[in-house]
Amino acid sequence: MASKGICLWLVFMIITQSVGEDMRSVQMSLMRGWKFHCATIPCLPLASIITSTIIKCQMACLAQIYCRAASFHQSTSNCELFSDMSNEITNMQTDTDITTMIVIAGTRSLPVCTWSQTATTIFGSQAGTSGSSLSLLNSPTGMYYDQPNNRLIVSDLENQRILQISLNSSPSVATVIAGSNGQGCNMNQFTANIGVGLDSSGNLYGADLHCNQVVRFPSNSNSATSGTLLGSIAAPALISINQLTNDIYVVGNSNNAIYKFVGGSGSPVVVAGGNGNGNALNQLNGPNGVYYDYLYTNALYVADLSNNRVMKFPSGSTSSTYGTVVAGGNGAGNGTNQLNGPRSVVVDSGGTLYILDRNNNRVQRWLPNATNGTTIVGGTQGTGSNQLYWPESLVFDSYYNLLVVDRYNNRIQRFNLTSC
Ligand SMILES: *[C@@H]1O[C@H](CO)[C@@H](O)[C@H](O)[C@H]1NC(C)=O
Ligand SMILES: *[C@@H]1O[C@H](CO)[C@@H](O)[C@H](O)[C@H]1NC(C)=O
Ligand SMILES: *[C@@H]1O[C@H](CO)[C@@H](O)[C@H](O)[C@H]1NC(C)=O
Ligand SMILES: *[C@@H]1O[C@H](CO)[C@@H](O)[C@H](O)[C@H]1NC(C)=O
Repeated sequence: MASKGICLWLVFMIITQSVGEDMRSVQMSLMRGWKFHCATIPCLPLASIITSTIIKCQMACLAQIYCRAASFHQSTSNCELFSDMSNEITNMQTDTDITTMIVIAGTRSLPVCTWSQTATTIFGSQAGTSGSSLSLLNSPTGMYYDQPNNRLIVSDLENQRILQISLNSSPSVATVIAGSNGQGCNMNQFTANIGVGLDSSGNLYGADLHCNQVVRFPSNSNSATSGTLLGSIAAPALISINQLTNDIYVVGNSNNAIYKFVGGSGSPVVVAGGNGNGNALNQLNGPNGVYYDYLYTNALYVADLSNNRVMKFPSGSTSSTYGTVVAGGNGAGNGTNQLNGPRSVVVDSGGTLYILDRNNNRVQRWLPNATNGTTIVGGTQGTGSNQLYWPESLVFDSYYNLLVVDRYNNRIQRFNLTSC
């Protein structure tokens, strides 16, 4: 079987689809007679469906937020949808029955979507009660969505544990995948874990604010597993992992810096801030959230909490890089151009920011280059289904529903997508 060389990229066709009236568009490269090899890295499709034509297969990929590639089988009309396949592209196999299509980075744009204003509690207590059983939470903080396994990884801070919560079954019961051995800084314990994430091999990471350390656990860890120290960072908070490079970004809250473990090892290097506490464009003030967008904008975003702003730094930034204020920066407040204690930020494929505006108990959306934001959910403090109490972190599930860690309500809320 021939392996595909890079030269094939010179002969690909580019096709553009516009779907409906909502201006969604995406460009895909079309490779006739090629399929993913999937020998070294197993590549299970996100979904396999039967579509009458190749164009419908392409549209199905477009409609699936995590779809980055699709393979259409001419003889069976089987359409396989895949998430990120960039590791496979230089190692494809010939198959005359199959046409493979790959989303061209940066061409996928989503329209401005809306979400239900009332949420369903998908985990924890709807009434906001804390607890330590496997169906309750006590001050949850960081959350990571493991899309291939449709599960959440949640840091349950006051229970000193990290949980996995399957979204396949409802109601779900959680499993402890790290900690739950009392307070402490041994490699199977936590004191105040904030950040969680998985690398591309499924290793789990926890960043503990009070233990000043980031710990790695193997992919099959449980409460009895002792992790290994990735590195020491003063007061680490949220983390973000580039799934293509395994670079691990960690907020160093007390040093007002963002650190990177290059390729997931070695000594951490400063990639933003680290120039003392302040509001200059090379400074941060009590940062809590970090998001490295490796898929679309290739930039680093920081929830610069005590400066009430979100900063953006280019890829390859260092401590001497000056960032850009991309949201807030107009003092603490609840105006549309303000934030009050932003905890974390997520960026979608169109470069739109979703900000957990903690003290305002709301999720704000800032479109690219906007001078003000819009409240997409929340806005008042309480336990009602339209309320939040210290939202901490957010992920989108594969349906593009918004899942919010509602920290002081000890629950995870799902706000369903209503229109796009
Ligand atoms: C927004 O801030 C103003 C001024 O501080 C305050 O009067 C108002 O109640 C706040 N609105 C909400 C929804 O908290
Ligand atoms: C935002 O502004 C930058 C710089 O002016 C510009 O290059 C970019 O195209 C703008 N993006 C959008 C989505 O308007
Ligand atoms: C919000 O931003 C838009 C576009 O940047 C601008 O037209 C509008 O006047 C702003 N609204 C407020 C209240 O600042
Ligand atoms: C919300 O979305 C989930 C997943 O897409 C679905 O199972 C559920 O029925 C939806 N809930 C409502 C109220 O529409």
